[in-house]
Amino acid sequence: MKRLLRPRRPLIGLLTAAFLASPLSVVSTAEAATPAPALIPKPVSQQVLSGETFTLGSSAAVGVIASPAKRAAATKVAEQLAAQLRRSTGYAVPVVPDAGTIRLSTNGTSSLGAEGYQLRVDRTAVTITAATPEGLFRGVTTLRQLLPAKADSAAPQAGPWKIAGIAIADSPRFAYRGTMLDVSRHFFSVAEVKRYIDLASRYKLNKLHLHLADDQGWRIQVDSWPRLTTYGGSLEVGGTPGGYYTKADFAEIVRYAGERYLTVIPEIDTPGHTNAALASYAELNCNGVAPPLYTGTNVGFSSLCVGKELTYSFLDDVFGEVSAQTPGDIVHLGGDEAHSTPHADYVTFVNKASTIVTGHGKRVMGWHEIGDTALPAGSVVQYWGTDDTKSRDLARQAATKGAKVVMSPANRAYLDMKYNKDTPYGLSWAGLVNVEKAYSWNPTTLIPNLPESAVAGVEAPLWSETLDDIDKVEFMAFPRLPGIAELGWSPASALNWTAYKDRLAGQGSRWDVLSVNFYRAPEIAWR
Ligand code: ACM
Repeated sequence: MKRLLRPRRPLIGLLTAAFLASPLSVVSTAEAATPAPALIPKPVSQQVLSGETFTLGSSAAVGVIASPAKRAAATKVAEQLAAQLRRSTGYAVPVVPDAGTIRLSTNGTSSLGAEGYQLRVDRTAVTITAATPEGLFRGVTTLRQLLPAKADSAAPQAGPWKIAGIAIADSPRFAYRGTMLDVSRHFFSVAEVKRYIDLASRYKLNKLHLHLADDQGWRIQVDSWPRLTTYGGSLEVGGTPGGYYTKADFAEIVRYAGERYLTVIPEIDTPGHTNAALASYAELNCNGVAPPLYTGTNVGFSSLCVGKELTYSFLDDVFGEVSAQTPGDIVHLGGDEAHSTPHADYVTFVNKASTIVTGHGKRVMGWHEIGDTALPAGSVVQYWGTDDTKSRDLARQAATKGAKVVMSPANRAYLDMKYNKDTPYGLSWAGLVNVEKAYSWNPTTLIPNLPESAVAGVEAPLWSETLDDIDKVEFMAFPRLPGIAELGWSPASALNWTAYKDRLAGQGSRWDVLSVNFYRAPEIAWR
């Protein structure tokens, strides 16, 4: 896809405007005129340090101050930052122990939690302090947004590399802040998934939900059932060649995500959305006959055979192998749109499947339809409703049983919904979702009478029926994904569309540098 760069506003015009707007007193002007930086998600607290400016020079070094137990992981965070700064500044930017002009310290207070951090920029140094390497990573994502956009360039740029003085203390509102990529309807390569991870991690998301199996394709190798991928993964929507992740591929995705502090949540959708499995193994079907592969976009027509014992030894093998490849403690068993499974059978099935998942040491996650099943301790239910009574009831039922709820309202958080009627791809069954609609809701009040304590966080799913390459994925995710990320991270009191919209505008030049194919929503004054 051809990427169009928009013309930039002439700098001289901006400078003239700033000069004309300046009163005579230089000191008070500096204080009054230093705006808060355009950070997304908005930090919990930030104080502009007027008159302080840090300049990253050719002798810059990233220093790691960490206890022996945290040093290796903290050094990896430092190395990622230094590697990018080397690319864009052309400076040597070594990573050094116990010093540095950019200091990453794990000696921070644990009162900000595992993901919290403090960041201070003054004329002498940039210091990020956290209790964990993960907190350092979150702080580094903030630093990257404080640096000039060109700091993300892949090739050396001219300086200066200045950061205005600031003191930030920050920690997330919710522990679960995710996005989902549907790699079944269309398959995405490991490189494409890494690109999505890179972009998502910039906004402090911490969960990558991969929708790995659906009617149109099975995308993760299972050694005990090899035809799932060799046959069941061979196509995708439209009948084009599909693909699948080998165990080595999946391990690489998990590793790459982990280095960016995203936990992978694998989903094997059951008992519906299983045509790829049923086509691969005739014996999984109640009638013993394998259906053909399916490359359309209908839903709700397939079901695993609830009455067959083989179904559960199949699930034990699949969830066993998938769990063994998953360092995170959650496995998603799907459970949505099982329209061809009678309800009593559905409940029987989900209860058995849940026991299998917990038997492999994982917590169960499922779409909100599982809300009226047994839900073992630690279960997570993902709400994807559209303000309808039935979906809300299922989420509330789940909470009553002690499950946590992740909020993915389809009419707000589904990144595959069209922005407006002219959007060239995407769907509209849950409505048109413009940037404001995606941002302007509160995860703890969206479902009336759902206790705030039951809400684990938010997730923005991206279904790929109409999206066959990463450029289209980027177009649908940006600029909406950062808004969902802010709902997950920033305090409710910080959420304000008018202010957010202005900060969002500041991300445009960053995405240009990164060649993100974002939708230039006309209501945003991109800069
Ligand atoms: C879903 O959109 N079927 C979870």
